[in-house]
Amino acid sequence: MGVAAAADWWQNAVIYQVYLRSFRDFDGDGVGDLRGVRSQLDYLVDLGVDALWITPFYTSPMADGGYDVADYRDVDPSYGTLADFQELLADAHRRGLRVIVDVVPNHASSQHPWFVEALAESPGGEARGRFHFREGKGEHGELPPNNWPSIFGGPAWTRVIEQDGQPGQWYLHLFTPQQPDLNWENPQVRAEFEDILRFWLDLGVDGFRIDVANGMAKAPGYPDRVEGCLPEDRSLYLDRDDVHDIHRAWRRVLDTYGDDRIAVAEAWVPTHRLALYLRPDELHQAFNFPYIKAGWSERAIRQVIEDSLGGLGASSSWVLSNHDEVRPVTRFGGGASGLRRARAAALLMLALPGSAYIYQGDELGLPEVVDLPDDALQDPKWERSGHTDRGRDGCRVPLPWSGTTAPYGFGPAGSAATWLPQPDEWASLGAQLQAEDQESSLILYRRALQLRRTLNRHGDGFEWLDDKDTPPGQLSFRRGGGFVCTVNFGPHDITMERPGELLLASAPLRLGDNLFVLPADTAAWWQADNEGRGTEQ
Ligand code: NOJ
Repeated sequence: MGVAAAADWWQNAVIYQVYLRSFRDFDGDGVGDLRGVRSQLDYLVDLGVDALWITPFYTSPMADGGYDVADYRDVDPSYGTLADFQELLADAHRRGLRVIVDVVPNHASSQHPWFVEALAESPGGEARGRFHFREGKGEHGELPPNNWPSIFGGPAWTRVIEQDGQPGQWYLHLFTPQQPDLNWENPQVRAEFEDILRFWLDLGVDGFRIDVANGMAKAPGYPDRVEGCLPEDRSLYLDRDDVHDIHRAWRRVLDTYGDDRIAVAEAWVPTHRLALYLRPDELHQAFNFPYIKAGWSERAIRQVIEDSLGGLGASSSWVLSNHDEVRPVTRFGGGASGLRRARAAALLMLALPGSAYIYQGDELGLPEVVDLPDDALQDPKWERSGHTDRGRDGCRVPLPWSGTTAPYGFGPAGSAATWLPQPDEWASLGAQLQAEDQESSLILYRRALQLRRTLNRHGDGFEWLDDKDTPPGQLSFRRGGGFVCTVNFGPHDITMERPGELLLASAPLRLGDNLFVLPADTAAWWQADNEGRGTEQ
């Protein structure tokens, strides 16, 4: 098979996020790896996704799960080798799967040779110019240069010890001190990253997920934040207009490789700002994070869909979760009703026009692991917040594949303990068991993705099917070709006019000839007959 060049492959693509540490462990050290992903490509083909996005696998001290990169052109030994990556890429392409890799431009690791060099040098030297080094305030420079907080807690500045053994300058890190921010005013930084993009493009990757794509540009002169400003006001160091020049330059690099290599922005900004990243000379996609934040609320979801279709058009890239967010089953209430809602939410997302990202394990209906022991927690947020924020480990627990005892097929027999412990309840959630159960979440996802391939041939049309008779608490819409999606956000059953033939439902429905009952927290897909039963033509 193989991937054919198609300029717009990403527009309707379903892209599966592989959180590498937790996907599959081939060598048995308790940590997922590239050969583990390679061994499960058929699972992804059977699931029906078009592409995978693999989280950072570059050389890293792992202060932030690999988002602290020490060598942007090599693979961390715990994940394998560059040759393993090339084999994975080739195997994926042979199966028609595209591969997107992460790029982390806002910050490097404190063990990156550039930062090591900067520390070894005196203030004002060339190597320091690639980062944000400043003198401190106060009589002896003992206070940070400004009051910016780190996103993970504590100040965004750390003071270094100079060559003479004395405390000296401070450097900026929006995340942990092990992640010094790069200075994008420095032409060497810009040139280096364009070269890094070319390195991976030359190897054949299909695109990049840009970490903190709204970072990089900082307010000139590093002014203080206004005292008493809202905690979410990060306008001095995030989502600044200057950042778009960088994306335009990157787009020019991508375009020299043809029109099927893409970039997707990770930018937590409101929809109207997100649209800026999607201008024709910038990035192809931007995660629709307002959608994640809408929760299980008919009104909020409807608003986000309307804003997105109006503001982002067909380019919306829907996301229900990722390795930074609480898993949907738990976010939507946990237990049986959380799972019910997560299944309905998946059908809703996959019915919308545009592309969709699925976070590994959501297809298995995995809940967040909320009771990881304190001493198992690895997310730097736990330490940085003074043990007040338990961080994101609960959505990063290694996947259950098969068997009834840990590690549930995550690694080979006799493997080391998984890097985060798996709960006993996961014995019933393994992929192998679910593949044999027609009612499972895995089978629901597989059916949905299979159907979606046919539905997408009907174009991007979208219209709400509301009128004065539409019961509250539900959303219904029609896409091109008579495809209809109905969702009941609960808590009561809703009796509705039947839109056509039932294609798929997230829970059993009661069907009559002309009416049907949509139970609470359930979504259903329909094919309206083309005479327009239940819908207009
Ligand atoms: C966003 C990534 O998804 C997250 O995991 C990471 O901690 C931050 N960016 C910093 O790189």
